[in-house]
Amino acid sequence: MIILGIDTSCDDTSAAVLTDGRTVLSNIINSQIKLHHVYGGVVPELASREHIRNIAPVVDEALSKAGIGMDRLDGIAVTIGPGLIGSLLVGLYYAKGLAMVRKIPLVGVNHLEGHVLSALLEDTQPDFPFVALTVSGGHTSLYHVKGLGQYVPMGQTLDDAAGEAYDKVAKILGLGYPGGAVIEALALSGDKNKIHFPRAQISPDSLDFSFSGLKTAVSMFINKWNESEEKQAEVTKEDIAACFQEAVIDVLAQKFLKAAERVNVNTLVLAGGVACNKALRQRLALETDARGMRLCYPRPFYCTDNGAMIALAGHYRIQRGERMDLADDVRSRYPIEEIMGSR
Ligand code: KG4
Ligand code: ZN
Repeated sequence: MIILGIDTSCDDTSAAVLTDGRTVLSNIINSQIKLHHVYGGVVPELASREHIRNIAPVVDEALSKAGIGMDRLDGIAVTIGPGLIGSLLVGLYYAKGLAMVRKIPLVGVNHLEGHVLSALLEDTQPDFPFVALTVSGGHTSLYHVKGLGQYVPMGQTLDDAAGEAYDKVAKILGLGYPGGAVIEALALSGDKNKIHFPRAQISPDSLDFSFSGLKTAVSMFINKWNESEEKQAEVTKEDIAACFQEAVIDVLAQKFLKAAERVNVNTLVLAGGVACNKALRQRLALETDARGMRLCYPRPFYCTDNGAMIALAGHYRIQRGERMDLADDVRSRYPIEEIMGSR
């Protein structure tokens, strides 16, 4: 089967062509980072206008790079949520148009399912069941993945997502948007033990996360630090980045491992934009090695938003005979447990 996957859930316009649910023939991503950088975050109105400009050329490029004509497509998979409504609408209506005119089967995909399955795009694949941690700019969630389409939520953030915390701290430090990679680079030359920022524990048994207290603590620290030359001589920007990152990693690693232990699962899958973070990967590799567990994650290209993971999730749905009703709409909120067929 040859599937075209389209994702316009946030600020990337992406289209990919996937064969047999395994081989990525193309994965084109048009990033809007430059557009939103100066605002310190994604401006929804600008994002949807940019998607409108980019969607046709991005899909054309994905097909031509794959060497696949529209007539050879067995299906189109498009993200229908969660995400920014104006952005999602562009992808969905473009996909609906293509599917209708060309009479190609169409399926709507939950963006989170795409992230959860993204590690299956790699040669060394995780076996089911596994526990997945999706950490991105919009989500921080733990799932017990029992099989394809079977996702049991175990924990999620009660306020900010981990990537959002990176982006906000970067904004306060005047580093622009997005913040993850910049903070990670700064942290490399910082001392992660200089300041102890809070690690929120909701309750001893909870697998939920909270990053807003950490963000506030870092922000208050930076405000005082900005006003004191003495403090600036003592603590560098790099130290702040390293200590913030250490607090995020501590919490993510602790809950991720606890989740796997709770359901007695040996395979852990890390996904989403924050999964690009090498310090997070290294910590998890150490912790899983020590417990005889297996850690899987996709390459960075498949961690951040991409059409390939949507094509993959759509592949299985189309294979199962699912089809989207052309009257169906996008959903800004779309919890994974509401996916059709999820248990
Ligand atoms: O998955 P993604 O592309 O989009 C969403 O669905 O949100 O994730 C983007 C997020 C941003 O918040 C960005 O700062 C974060 O992922 N990110 C990182 C790194 N690279 C991207 N966070 C930490 N370390 C990184 N290296
Ligand atoms: Zn995403």
